[in-house]
Order: sequence, then structure tokens, then C-alpha cells
Amino acid sequence: DVLREKLAPHAAEPWMAATSLEVMEQSIQGCQRCALGATRNKLVFGSGNPKAKVLVIGEAPGADEDEQGFPFVGRAGQLLTKMLEAVQFDRTKDVYIANILKSRPPNNRDPKPEEVEQCEVYLWKQILLLEPKLILCLGRVAGTNLLKINETLGKMRGGVVHQFYGIPTLVTYHPAALLRNPDWKH
Ligand code: URA
Repeated sequence: DVLREKLAPHAAEPWMAATSLEVMEQSIQGCQRCALGATRNKLVFGSGNPKAKVLVIGEAPGADEDEQGFPFVGRAGQLLTKMLEAVQFDRTKDVYIANILKSRPPNNRDPKPEEVEQCEVYLWKQILLLEPKLILCLGRVAGTNLLKINETLGKMRGGVVHQFYGIPTLVTYHPAALLRNPDWKH
């Protein structure tokens, strides 16, 4: 399909040969495709159930994630974990969680276009391996970079069902935004 065609230029790269997320993770541990490879502590590939029907996508690792090597383990991550639990979702069983960027941007600045361009091929390959039935993007950065649309969060969220190469995709608030604005939680 179209996503496979977009990855065709990378066919000769070792990570493209992976037939599981676990093998793929091992193959990109030393990634230096962008400058963030020089400053990160741990590459944050993703976590959860590789057979989950739902893929949750965040922005990029923060300080806690960079230290531990897993997505959404800091304060925002703890809120995400609780929000999933509130709808009877166990983050280790019912979802897979990944980010647009696998390496931490210094001072948590927004991802640069060239960083997204280098890193998004990994997310696309993860999506081909996972075959999620639904994608949930957390925040404007995740939504605009995955969907390639230049919209505000307000226009992307609120029951709008987007499509990512045939996969229904929702966009909602980033949990870090909900920590700042608890009124938005409902
Ligand atoms: N924020 C994100 O967008 N991703 C993480 O993994 C952690 C915090």
C-alpha cells in the first residue's frame, strides 16, 4: 500500500528487515539519523502490547523518558496511564505507545522539521508492524506531524475522525496540557 511505498527508499536499511517491533527496536538503538542522537541518553522506541488494536502517539521523550528509555513515564505519562485506566485500558495490554521523535530534543523544544523527517520513517514502520485499528494522537505536534495537516488542536480534536493511510485517527489534548488546564479533562 501507500505507506509501504513511502518506505521503499529505505528498503536496504537493516531496521526495514525487522518483522517484529522487538527486533526493530534493537536495530535502531544506535540511531544517528539526526543531531539528537548526539545528546540523547536513551532512545525511546515505544512500549505496550505489540498486538494492541490502539496506537497512542505522543510528541517526543522528555527528561524522564530519556533517562529511562520508555515513553510517558514522567508526570504527563502518569496522567496518561490514569486516563487510560479510567476507560478500562491497561497501558501494558490494551495499547502500544510511541512518539513522533525517538530522541529527546534539548530543553523539550518542539521537534524540528528535519528531525521529524529523519525519524518518522521509524513510526511508519512501527505502524506497518502493529497494524493498529485506531490511532490516537496526543497534542498538536503529534497530530500535525502524523497527518501532515497544518491545523490548530481545536480544529483537529472534538470527534473529528481523520485517516492515516486508511487507519481511523483521533487527535486530543496532550496530557501535559491537561496538567496545566485540569478543566479540559472532561
Ligand atoms: N511527552 C510526550 O509527548 N511523549 C513522552 O514520551 C513523554 C512526554
